[in-house]
Amino acid sequence: MNFDGNFYNPSEEVVNNAHIKDWNKLNKFASENPEKFWTSMAEELHWFKKWDKFLDESNAPFYQFFVNAKTNITYNCLDVHKNSYRRNKLAYIWEGEDGSTRSISYNELYNEVCKFSNVLKSMNVQKGDIVTIYMGRVPELVIAMLACARIGAVHSVVYGGFSTESLHERIEDSVSKVVITCDGAYQRGKLVNLKDITDGAVDRSGVVQHVICVKRTGQEVNMLAGRDMWYHELMQLPIASIHCKAEQTDAEDPLFILYTSGTTGKPKAILHTHGGYMVGVYASLKYVFDIKDEDRYWCAADPGWITGHSYIVYGPLLNGTTSIIYEGAPNFPFPDRWWEIVEKYGVNILYTAPTAIRGLMRFGDAWAKRHDLSSLRLLGSVGEPINPEAWRWYNEVIGDGKCPIMDTWWQTETGMFMITPMPCMPLKPGSGTKPFPGIEMDILDEEGNSVADNEEGFLVIKNPWPSMMRTIYGNDERYVEQYWQKYPGMYMTGDSARRDSDGYYWVIGRVDDVIKVSGYRLGTAEIESALVSYPDVAEAAAIGLPHELKGNAIHCFVILKSGVTNADELPDKLKLHIRHEVGPIAVPEKIEIVDKLPKTRSGKIMRRVLKAQALGQDPGNLSTLED
Ligand code: WTA
Repeated sequence: MNFDGNFYNPSEEVVNNAHIKDWNKLNKFASENPEKFWTSMAEELHWFKKWDKFLDESNAPFYQFFVNAKTNITYNCLDVHKNSYRRNKLAYIWEGEDGSTRSISYNELYNEVCKFSNVLKSMNVQKGDIVTIYMGRVPELVIAMLACARIGAVHSVVYGGFSTESLHERIEDSVSKVVITCDGAYQRGKLVNLKDITDGAVDRSGVVQHVICVKRTGQEVNMLAGRDMWYHELMQLPIASIHCKAEQTDAEDPLFILYTSGTTGKPKAILHTHGGYMVGVYASLKYVFDIKDEDRYWCAADPGWITGHSYIVYGPLLNGTTSIIYEGAPNFPFPDRWWEIVEKYGVNILYTAPTAIRGLMRFGDAWAKRHDLSSLRLLGSVGEPINPEAWRWYNEVIGDGKCPIMDTWWQTETGMFMITPMPCMPLKPGSGTKPFPGIEMDILDEEGNSVADNEEGFLVIKNPWPSMMRTIYGNDERYVEQYWQKYPGMYMTGDSARRDSDGYYWVIGRVDDVIKVSGYRLGTAEIESALVSYPDVAEAAAIGLPHELKGNAIHCFVILKSGVTNADELPDKLKLHIRHEVGPIAVPEKIEIVDKLPKTRSGKIMRRVLKAQALGQDPGNLSTLED
């Protein structure tokens, strides 16, 4: 890329080889004819029955897309490729943290998914039932997700880094009769016993009838007779045949729910569908990461988050891509583990988070320079704003100055990239450039007026798009209230941003009580409720403060119950408690014991005051402060 003082421009070669060579032309077409734009993408996929109507807005904000169409996302992920020249192409190359490897072709993946679909059917899992999946990063996680989708069941994947209480809450909320888990996972050479955590969650709950356990580590686990079954044993039963037709789901039938943290209260289940979601992730991955048949593509996220759902599982499979899945930590056993993987498998496209880039940058250039990274042609970033220093390192040291960086802004709710470059676009470090074609966005002030260039405001989306969430599962009211109420007719992202005079967007961060820690999305409410579940704690507040590596780190303030003495060791005990209840990703950087918390007269904790205080900033308007 050549830097002209304002933009990093892609080379002619990159532009000439890209699917989209002229972004402005595509954008103009998409904004003038959104229906034509999206339906032309949909035409590239298989439908058992085509739609009667592209968009139904009659019950907004409960939008419907591809009305009355019949499809099944797994038909497009599997059958289409199995019936083509891609039959024996690799769908996944998997590498375990311990060095073990597995390659899975489209044909094999098809067989495994059909087999497991039949297993689920034999357990009476039916269309519309929700199945919870709680596993490490192993191929069976993908197989389990696809098997659910194939029979019209709805998967609810819970990230393997969450702990007992988080898992329990999600199982209960979704009333899952079946839970799929692993005996364990490798994490930096240590074994984590996922089955134990699952047992803890399932034992507390009355809804689960069956637990299916994948053997990954071989460690000793408890298996409860009648309830728990081994995956490998089930897959050998005669019932597990390699033939299972994909259920003909309606475009609007639910495909999955995914819990994510919101502004208040418990995590909410974001619901996505078979039709619109499929079109959105297919098109966005194809154009943004410029997928070519010969590519080896590696999204280094975890399948347990939306990035994994859209861009490890569905997007790549819809595009017939070969993807890498790596089980373990980026720096295990050495800081060049990732670069070794890039070299070994000839990875062409690498998509990861700024926190990982900063973490690896810290070890110095030499670890990367030991490896031949010349196969890389595109890089990607997601999850939080990327600081220009990390962007430049990624560009120069990893990409050798020749790989455009796709800084993709999006959310669990949006399903697909919303603000993102394409390889043909000039870049600015730290900006995701412009909205994806067909997506209209704006930045508004409190009153709903567009702000001037370079001014900060609330980021909103002004028109519906196919892969948008359909609702919060079981809570339509909260869906409307949280996303559509502040500015009627517009989707409120919860982020603040500014737009420069070139029309480039710069996302600043969350304006609500969501904290992005190392790119993971957490809510202050989850951390606070874990803290107050500890016997000595009366009240708690959690805030995010800037952190060099993690982007944000969690800081907590607790008020103790009266009579509690000897509190010296309490912060450490509370950290352990949070690790156990919520998970290691939620462990606070610091916990302070205080006598008072700033509150509004109606008793709501004013986190912004705590934050301003911690940062030594002006807390702003304090008129609602109680005291
Ligand atoms: C943040 C992750 C800046 C943002 C896909 C958003 C980003 C939240 C970027 C959603 C980016 C994501 N630049 N901020 N490229 N990507 N975010 O649901 O605050 O886990 O609202 O989805 O991550 O997090 P979620």
